[in-house]
Amino acid sequence: MSAASDTNKDRVFIFDTTLRDGEQSPGATMTLEEKLQVAETLDDMGVDIIEAGFPIASNGDFEAVVAVAKQVKRSTVAGLARAITADIDRAGEAVRHARRGRIHTFVSTSPIHLAHQMKKTEDEVIEIIARTVTQARNLIDDVEWSAMDATRTPLEFLKRCVETAIKAGATTINLPDTVGYAVPDEHEKMFRDIVTMVPGADKAIFSAHCHNDLGLAVANSLAAVRGGARQVECTINGLGERAGNAALEEIVMALRTRGDAMPYHTEIESTHLARASKVVSAAANFPVQYNKAIVGKNAFAHESGIHQDGMLKNAETYEIMTPASVGIKETTLVMGKHSGRAAFKDKLRELGYELGDNAFQEAFVRFKDLADRKKHVYDADIVALVDDEVGSVGDRIRLVDMEVVSKTGGNHKCTMTLSIDGEETSVVYEGTGSVDAIFNAIKAGVGQEPHLVLYAVDGVTGGTDAQASAHVRLEMNGRIVSGNAAEPDTLVASARAYLNAYNRLLIDRGASAQGAMAG
Ligand code: KIV
Ligand code: ZN
Repeated sequence: MSAASDTNKDRVFIFDTTLRDGEQSPGATMTLEEKLQVAETLDDMGVDIIEAGFPIASNGDFEAVVAVAKQVKRSTVAGLARAITADIDRAGEAVRHARRGRIHTFVSTSPIHLAHQMKKTEDEVIEIIARTVTQARNLIDDVEWSAMDATRTPLEFLKRCVETAIKAGATTINLPDTVGYAVPDEHEKMFRDIVTMVPGADKAIFSAHCHNDLGLAVANSLAAVRGGARQVECTINGLGERAGNAALEEIVMALRTRGDAMPYHTEIESTHLARASKVVSAAANFPVQYNKAIVGKNAFAHESGIHQDGMLKNAETYEIMTPASVGIKETTLVMGKHSGRAAFKDKLRELGYELGDNAFQEAFVRFKDLADRKKHVYDADIVALVDDEVGSVGDRIRLVDMEVVSKTGGNHKCTMTLSIDGEETSVVYEGTGSVDAIFNAIKAGVGQEPHLVLYAVDGVTGGTDAQASAHVRLEMNGRIVSGNAAEPDTLVASARAYLNAYNRLLIDRGASAQGAMAG
């Protein structure tokens, strides 16, 4: 942060919506425990506002917002509400548990939404804004109002809407690029026009909320800041609907690295970014692309000879920020099979994990098992192991035992024992390959046929003894869920990732394991 930018008017508030817009991403559903872990990570790294969910959407969403509100120490906790009386009451009920709570209410403003979705006139929308923002303000002092599809709304009508919301008491005005349609220059101009022309604009903070359909979400968010926005809504890893939301880590590091061109700052502790990316990726079961800016596996890898040569002479030749500044540590050889509990606990602490007694004990047993089978255990192995352990807590279907026989040109057969709600069941099944046989065996064992949307395997570290990290995405009755698992054996990792996804189909909907499996 440059000294020139260190004034309040240059402060950009970070509003994280990983737990709301991010979780709306197909397959990114999180359990309550995972949401709490993500919220703790965001709170610790200095996020100003955490949007914890959409309380009216389900009892699970409501409970999650309440639990986050009770847990969070520093951040403001926001709950989303449509412009409907019951939504706003429910959001108010959820966020009142926070030290600082916010109701975030929205209504569409673009002609296309008004005509086809809402079937309302402009005057009716103005009335809705005045009424719902007033209702929210009667419940809480901190109210954010959003003009859904603002970037496709005529400026004159948008100005009327914003003025109405501010008059009714909105303290933050969000102008979302809901469909990811904006380009930076026009986005900057929209903000500048609204901020400078709307009467009373000085009473509110303006916010950008950009989707990434054209790959411009971060550029548009930064343009909005140039135009006068002082809050940016974003998600870790850019998780979110369709192509995702603006990535928090990219906005924070762009402002930090290019303070000369963009004299604004955030209060985010950037050394927490790499860890936050891992926590969210594990919780949402959503892998991070290798070349993802800031937090991708290759973001700081220099492969070409000329780059490596430059790096050895002076890192600044090819590096505009250091891996350490985003919390990436050198891959270190950690421990072997002789390492004890205390050393393992220290290592977990260094990697940012505080596990309860039971979780620690289970992780330690798995670490010992891994160290017996794998010569070198690296930090990345420990992270994969613990994330895997945390992600499978409460799984009702577990792999007890598995044997796979494969033959060139011949049959592939899997014999498997599963524990379903504590009861063991064994199956034998064939397939066109080993993985096909394994997935068929699981489907036969649980008696359901979810559709396999994605299957991918990756090495946690290099080498043939590396742990395999398997990702599976399943779809059943219109619901998409993801599962992950890390294991030294690729086939066991694949089976456990499939089961992890399957277990997620059973949660949050109150279904009994047998009930969900039948029919
Ligand atoms: O993209 C959008 O318009 C939203 C609103 C609910 C803020 O997510
Ligand atoms: Zn959105």
